Amino acid sequence: MRVNTETHLECVSCGATYDLSEIMYNCKCGDILDVKHDLDSIDGEVLKKKWDDRWGLKRGVVSSGVWRYKELILNTDDKNIITKQEGNTRLYPAGKAGEYAGLNNFLLKHEGENPSGSFKDRGMTCGITAAGLYNAKVVACASTGNTSASMAAYAAVWGKPSVIFIPAGKIAYGKLAQALAYGGITLQIDGNFDDAMTLVQEVCAEMNIYLLNSINPFRIEGQKAIGFEVLQQLDWEVPDWFIIPGGNLGNNSALTKGLQELYQLGIISKIPRVAVIQAEGANPLYTMWKNGTDFEAVKDPETIATAIKIGNPVSWKKSIRGLEWCNGVVEEVTEQEIMDAKAMVDRAGIGAEPASCCSVAGAKKLVDSGVIHPDEKVVGILTGNILKDPDAVVGYHKDTLQEMGINGTYANSPVSVKSDMQSVKNILDSII
Ligand code: F0G
Repeated sequence: MRVNTETHLECVSCGATYDLSEIMYNCKCGDILDVKHDLDSIDGEVLKKKWDDRWGLKRGVVSSGVWRYKELILNTDDKNIITKQEGNTRLYPAGKAGEYAGLNNFLLKHEGENPSGSFKDRGMTCGITAAGLYNAKVVACASTGNTSASMAAYAAVWGKPSVIFIPAGKIAYGKLAQALAYGGITLQIDGNFDDAMTLVQEVCAEMNIYLLNSINPFRIEGQKAIGFEVLQQLDWEVPDWFIIPGGNLGNNSALTKGLQELYQLGIISKIPRVAVIQAEGANPLYTMWKNGTDFEAVKDPETIATAIKIGNPVSWKKSIRGLEWCNGVVEEVTEQEIMDAKAMVDRAGIGAEPASCCSVAGAKKLVDSGVIHPDEKVVGILTGNILKDPDAVVGYHKDTLQEMGINGTYANSPVSVKSDMQSVKNILDSII
């Protein structure tokens, strides 16, 4: 692959470097790779001005909320870029969800407003563009649902086949529906996400298929744009905290990598802290962080937030590195905390899928424990759309999640009523 600025790959462990001529996901030593941009050749002030000049453009590749920042993402000619105008998602005042978390200055960045309904589109536009630059013929991923929905959509735009490995019966219905609808070759494997992740890597190596999980370093580059866009929306005023859910741990790694680059370029002059939130039943990063122990995978991860039901995340080293840089923290939340926080995000009129709401559940927990001060400025990332997982929503509001240990604390149950005026009036009179 050829790009317009000096860029190479570098191992997170041994520091070995590679040019972009060959497709690589792992170093010769076996560890994962970063994309490294030559920051010395970039003038931060000039770059920031260029990005601000592009702000608000309605047409063209650089009106995308990813490619607006292409100099720090993947600097290739516009004609090579496969985009669905991703990004440009809203940054909402958290409303009810802010009160619930105990924060006075809480904003929610809604990545569920991306074209396929999750933040994955930011990584995928970059990953599929890289696939094109490498002349790949087929792409593949393992997924808890959103990566596959996004990859299938972008592959359809690109016009090439995509192969999806999903754990059978374990992904949310909306996501499965998208994969099928966009034409992804959907392989339901008999195992969990971690099994699917191992298998897809073997299949891609054996069959020369381009792998689009976040182990692909170009995916991470695209996802950095979440942080860039939040900062630009805030006119480059840096919040005190970002709070973000953690599953395979690519997204928080992307966030801190991007922030670090902005800091190095002088585009920001303060380092925000980052909190990564995991579900209690899928918490390898939390355990490692809290106990100061070596990384150990969780064998049978379990959570209603199926997007982050991951026991052996590929990017844990990048995640730890980023957290150490920004004096970050890791927190875990229970199933009940996730679903109650989700009820609040939904009732605020914003709405998001369960995994996303770890950001709000985690915010509340960190405020309650005094780690975050109520007056600090906090940005929570909502990673996926409310419509992705209708079963979780309806289950909570009909209070049928008891067998999972979840109560419908803030349930808004549907009311059955006879179809006549008096019956409707009786009910509404008792409620309004
Ligand atoms: N939130 C949502 C809605 C997700 O879909 C994911 C990951 C995450 C949070 C966690 O992000 O993995 O970068 O730490 N979903 C992946 C998938 C694993 O296959 O769709 P992460």
